[in-house]
Amino acid sequence: MPLVNVIRGERIEPAPFNVRTPYLRVPLWLVLAAWTAKWLWRLFVIYLRFWYVTLPLTGLLALYVRFGWWGPGLALGIPACGLTTWALWHWPSFRRWAWWPTLARWRRFRYRRIWQPAMVTAGLSVSFDSHTILPVLKKVRVVGGTDELTVRMVTGQIPDDFARVSERLMHTFAALGCKVTPGNRPDLVRLTMRRTDPLTTPVGPLPVGAPDYMALPVGLREDGGVYELRLHGTQVLVVGATGAGKGSVIWSIVRALAGGVFAGLVQLWAFDPKGGMELGAGERLFARFTCTDFKAMADLLELALSEAQGRAARLRGHARQHTPSVTEPLIVIIIDELAALTAYVTDRQTKDRIKAALGLLLTQGRAVGVHVIGCLQDPRKEVLPFRNLFPTRIGLRMAEEPEVDLVLGDGMRDRGALCDRIPMSLPGVGYVVLDGDPTPVRVRFSYNTDSHIAALADTYAFDSARVLDGELA
Ligand SMILES: Nc1ncnc2c1ncn2[C@@H]1O[C@H](COP(=O)(O)OP(=O)(O)OP(=O)(O)O)[C@@H](O)[C@H]1O
Ligand SMILES: [Mg+2]
Repeated sequence: MPLVNVIRGERIEPAPFNVRTPYLRVPLWLVLAAWTAKWLWRLFVIYLRFWYVTLPLTGLLALYVRFGWWGPGLALGIPACGLTTWALWHWPSFRRWAWWPTLARWRRFRYRRIWQPAMVTAGLSVSFDSHTILPVLKKVRVVGGTDELTVRMVTGQIPDDFARVSERLMHTFAALGCKVTPGNRPDLVRLTMRRTDPLTTPVGPLPVGAPDYMALPVGLREDGGVYELRLHGTQVLVVGATGAGKGSVIWSIVRALAGGVFAGLVQLWAFDPKGGMELGAGERLFARFTCTDFKAMADLLELALSEAQGRAARLRGHARQHTPSVTEPLIVIIIDELAALTAYVTDRQTKDRIKAALGLLLTQGRAVGVHVIGCLQDPRKEVLPFRNLFPTRIGLRMAEEPEVDLVLGDGMRDRGALCDRIPMSLPGVGYVVLDGDPTPVRVRFSYNTDSHIAALADTYAFDSARVLDGELA
């Protein structure tokens, strides 16, 4: 309420506040001294923070002061000669113990420089109680052409939060690929940034040996090692657009099994519904080969099923997994286009027979040594019911993004299986996903030319005389 002078009847205006700041005279020497102290402190902090640069420089300076140019010259020259000799003498150990750790330190510095904006723009920073909390970059390790970043997540985050933005992280850190996997502690996540691509050049045929069904060499991994596919106890689905290299996956597996075919321990049953164009070249390797008659294909699938069921009856109570032998070989059914059998067959009865036999084979066959390797060009709905019956799935180049999770399983694209981003120039490159394993593995399958296949068929042709089992002969 305003104040009023009751005698004069006038309104009394309140006196304004005195807002003048007190005048304090600071001497110039004090200002300069404070500034100098501040900057000296900052330099000291920088000196400590970058000790790995500043300490050696101090040492070199001390040597220069004491011995002149000879001091730092010898201090640098002797280790340089030693390192060069080591690198020339044994490059793998030099790379492992000297080059990669140095590179990792440099890369860690680079990652840290843009860590904050990268986390904020990817939506991985958390605002809480007017604070912004960032995931912590704990360690950077260089292995081959990849950087492995170990990151401590903010409380409440899970690895899938990082997986969802893996593509964004890949571009932010200028990498060729980013794979997200759980770390070795529940609060850690590992980001594997691919810097170079060792899979740009085609991989030639791999040597043939006695097959190890747990580890068939079929191609190269992106860390440069040989990728070994497990066939024992599994069924394999290969999906890729036309020209993606499904043929090279088939021939890589056939090549890895060829030693077993020759020894009579493996029988390959080939179904090539595209008229024999793909598998016809190696017909002599196959114990059974069918390419035009869908009824014959249905018969063959039913024969394989009855063999699987017979084996199951024989093994029941004795063993839980079949061991291939000459009398009871591993049967590998190779189907070049699965959809041709399950979706495009016009005769309803044949189609139903094929579907029933295939479904049962996929579920009952893997424990008794009857395996299916099915290729699929178009992951359409009709074929999808079978998808979950294949514990091992290989995704090559695909046309569209949603196909990836449809075929490989939910969340696989986020976890790094960017099948829709594989360029046409890289046929035979794909991602292998194993049931229960959250990490897709990027692989380039080996490529067998027509002449390689012909030579393989000449050397390891299936000899029916070796088949002792009268039922199958
Ligand atoms: N692993 C590989 N390395 C290098 N080149 C490859 C590889 N696989 C395939 N190619 C090349 O890509 C071409 C197409 O491959 P392929 O016939 O295997 O594709 P596909 O997926 O079977 O296609 P389609 O569905 O049309 O049968 C091959 O002729 C070959 O030139
Ligand atoms: Mg093909």
